[in-house]
Amino acid sequence: MDITEGEDALITAIRNILMLGGVDDPVAESERILAGTRDRDLELADMWERGVSMARTRASGVPLSYVLGCQRFMGVEIEVNPGVLIPRSETELLGWEAVARLREARGGHGLGARVIDMCCGSGNLACGIAHAVPGAEIWASDLMEDCAVLTMRNAKRLGLGSRIHVAAGDLFEPLAVMGASGCDVIVCNPPYISSHRLNRDRQDLLNHEPRQAFDGGPYGLSIYQRLVHDAASFLLTGGWLLLELGVGQAASLDLLLQRSGYYDHIELVPDPQGEARVAAARRGPLVTGGH
Ligand SMILES: C[S@@+](CC[C@H](N)C(=O)[O-])C[C@H]1O[C@@H](n2cnc3c(N)ncnc32)[C@H](O)[C@@H]1O
Repeated sequence: MDITEGEDALITAIRNILMLGGVDDPVAESERILAGTRDRDLELADMWERGVSMARTRASGVPLSYVLGCQRFMGVEIEVNPGVLIPRSETELLGWEAVARLREARGGHGLGARVIDMCCGSGNLACGIAHAVPGAEIWASDLMEDCAVLTMRNAKRLGLGSRIHVAAGDLFEPLAVMGASGCDVIVCNPPYISSHRLNRDRQDLLNHEPRQAFDGGPYGLSIYQRLVHDAASFLLTGGWLLLELGVGQAASLDLLLQRSGYYDHIELVPDPQGEARVAAARRGPLVTGGH
């Protein structure tokens, strides 16, 4: 059997395994799995072993991105593993919003732009933004050491290592000592599902991905409440705090941001379906004797 016949037979085998496992789109996914075996530059026999094993894992319910070990985000390939959230396409709205505001403030190349990616996970936002804005310097941080390690690996592999600085710790704690202040933009896609909802209606989310990526405390707002205050001292006057929102959270976030007194302009950015999924809050002037 030549290599083309071998690959035809393999893709059929993969597709059958996926179909039997009830995977929604076995045709498209079999092609991606086959491509995943090709990437590894394997002999045909090894491709079979690898492809069939990946297909079986996928058929058992493991998300395709974990099976492949990567996910595309804002035009770059991000390595992922089960210790981090798989970057979602809806989070690209937040990333591109950051890129637009950086270009507006600093010009196309964003020379001199300073950005924080808080709760960085795999580093998808940090890498996507750094790739799109070649003049930007980015500080990325996550509570989980594994996330910080993977972010650093993604940044280096994409040739962005010199412009992305990574730390692990609770919110802004590790960034204070790294000199990450005076930022044009802070992006954050925090955990925002209420613990109650996560334990009842959305337990499916925890089948494969880590709890700390989703659990936003009793009302889903715990991290936002801290962020809205803590972010203010890391932003330039006129800089933007950009937050991904859960569906239906816009009014609560609007109120939180207004009540904090740190921001002089708040915008809610809708997704293509018209649902507000990003809150943008502009840091107001520092008031002497105030915040
Ligand atoms: C929804 S995930 C977002 C990951 C990534 N930024 C993305 O957009 O796919 C939330 C991330 O927040 C991190 N996290 C949770 N609590 C945190 C805290 N107190 N300080 C810093 N990071 C935290 C989690 O480890 C997780 O990686």
